[in-house]
Amino acid sequence: MTRIIDGNAVASEIRDDLGDAIETLADAGSRPGLATVLMGDDPASQTYVSMKQRDCEEVGIEPHHVDVPGDAAPETLYETIDDLNENPDVHGYLVQAPVPDHVEYREVIRRIDPLKDVDGFHPENVGRLVAGDARFRPCTPHGVQKLLEAADVDTEGADITIVGRSDIVGKPLANLLIQKADDGNATVTVCHSRTDDLGEKTRSADVVVAAVGVPELLDGSMIGEDAVVIDVGVNRVDADTEKGYELVGDVDFESAKARASAITPVPGGVGPMTRAMLLYNTVKAASLQTGIDVDLP
Ligand SMILES: NC(=O)c1ccc[n+]([C@@H]2O[C@H](COP(=O)([O-])OP(=O)(O)OC[C@H]3O[C@@H](n4cnc5c(N)ncnc54)[C@H](OP(=O)(O)O)[C@@H]3O)[C@@H](O)[C@H]2O)c1
Repeated sequence: MTRIIDGNAVASEIRDDLGDAIETLADAGSRPGLATVLMGDDPASQTYVSMKQRDCEEVGIEPHHVDVPGDAAPETLYETIDDLNENPDVHGYLVQAPVPDHVEYREVIRRIDPLKDVDGFHPENVGRLVAGDARFRPCTPHGVQKLLEAADVDTEGADITIVGRSDIVGKPLANLLIQKADDGNATVTVCHSRTDDLGEKTRSADVVVAAVGVPELLDGSMIGEDAVVIDVGVNRVDADTEKGYELVGDVDFESAKARASAITPVPGGVGPMTRAMLLYNTVKAASLQTGIDVDLP
């Protein structure tokens, strides 16, 4: 029987466990605060931002939000960032990607106070992660690690193939999994669009993580017998549903499930974990900035 790794259940436990830390900080007069910044009015980004706001409200984190007009000069966004860096009620914040074309995203990230960089994208935080001294693990890779832990998957000595080398998923996840640490110690292969014979690399892995953005790219024939499959992908495909589409992952669920020992569904796998780990990083940021020690799950 293939185990379905329930991301909603694991995320819900993490959110519950964060409750005590949030109350400790709030009782000391420092309720954690998370701000979202949205430049422009991209509908998908608006949805993501409102989900993050709602998540905060549900766990007792104070949500803040700043809208910046899509046609504003980059300096307007920089001023918002400078204000958030100074605002003691905001312990963490993120600028929702993508930003409009006339804004240089890397420059935006560089201006964020690294202590408030709850996405973990600032070069200082990237460097610390690579050096094995992570301050904020980026939310999706951290969520994948927590899912593996919850599913009792021992990464030590495991052959893990990651498909995708993006700055937000593939690269940081590879760096985390090779660390000398209980949730690392894996032998990691990172694949991308120029990889030769992708199937050979995925079939030989104990754990396959797909973070590609191509609907159902990996099917069962590319999964080894009894492997663990973590599907990060979220793709909208046309379907005969009320909304006119459905969400599918980067893995063909049914054929991969027939080969795997455990697999995450889409939706309900990695997605809720990414959201939970943003809350985790916000609580950690509040603890670091206030000097108030809290237990993190
Ligand atoms: N569930 C969540 O919380 C969550 C969070 C983040 C992202 N996602 C989803 O995860 C997926 C990936 O996101 P991302 O931001 O990492 O994407 P990305 O920045 O577009 O990176 C995609 C990666 O996949 C590689 N790739 C593309 N086509 C390939 C192919 N045919 N064979 C092998 N590799 C291929 C690319 O290779 P090159 O580098 O050579 O171009 C790139 O490294 C998307 O569906 C996204 O929506 C989900």
